Amino acid sequence: MIMTVNGQTKTCGLIGNPVEHTLSPVIHNLLAEMTGKNLIYVPFRVEGENLADAVKGAAALGIKGLNVTVPYKERILPFLTDVDALAQKIGAVNTLVQESGGYIGYNTDMPGLYRAMLSDGVSVDGEDVIILGAGGVARAVALMLSEKARRIFLLNRTEQKALDIAGEVNGYAGRQAVKAMPLSAWRKLPDGKYLAVQATSVGMHPRTDDVPIEDADFYKRIHTGYDLIYNPFETRFMKLVKKEGGKAFNGLKMLLYQGIIAYELWNGLSVSGEQAGKIYERLRESL
Ligand code: ATR
Repeated sequence: MIMTVNGQTKTCGLIGNPVEHTLSPVIHNLLAEMTGKNLIYVPFRVEGENLADAVKGAAALGIKGLNVTVPYKERILPFLTDVDALAQKIGAVNTLVQESGGYIGYNTDMPGLYRAMLSDGVSVDGEDVIILGAGGVARAVALMLSEKARRIFLLNRTEQKALDIAGEVNGYAGRQAVKAMPLSAWRKLPDGKYLAVQATSVGMHPRTDDVPIEDADFYKRIHTGYDLIYNPFETRFMKLVKKEGGKAFNGLKMLLYQGIIAYELWNGLSVSGEQAGKIYERLRESL
């Protein structure tokens, strides 16, 4: 799969801990092959105390671009030369682009989710949206959707975290776009059908029987369920949405497009829909 490595080969990679199960090398090495770039993408497992050295060392080695994953998306910010406006607002980066001796940080997770939704035919404009969860991912989703959705209901087990995010996002949006609620209060949602984004870690492998809300009546309120988990490929949340007649999608396309946007930033090119489709198939096989 990887092209011949020679004196001109450029390196990109992933910083995180752990990194052993990452699918990013599949995305980027295939993209390099498809776009005819002499580029190789490798995972780097970095211990927390070495993070600053790792960034400095990567710059010294001329590593062209890096992805950043858990647990460093926020912690890496102080070691960057600059941070793009969206990433600053989100407060987390997942992509670094080499620039004048250091790295500029970007966040391609949210644009990735948006492009995934477009590709799945899921519209967010003017929608009423439920977001489940109030962690880093849910916060970023709320920020992004607050520009497009009509109303967002942010439901979390720990209500205070949802309240904090709602306050912050409403400040940015300049309107009461987000309303926080405890997860258990879903029956108080205004009548109507919703787009629901599942942004908790519940249901992820190996605890695949778990779901944040059990009650079938909740799923009757959902016309489209978007789970950000992709392992398992069909989560219990997705099954419950489908059972009540809704459409359901997983997070694999978000993973795909965050990678594609990073690759586009590193190489200054556009990846076509057809190329994206081929990579998606390869990702499915790798799961
Ligand atoms: P991330 O950065 O990926 O969003 P996180 O910050 O750890 O991860 O957030 C995990 C989310 O999953 C939180 O919203 C968490 O709810 P709490 O804020 O109440 O902890 C949610 N979550 C995790 N386990 C859960 C469970 N068993 N039931 C409901 N929500 C759960």
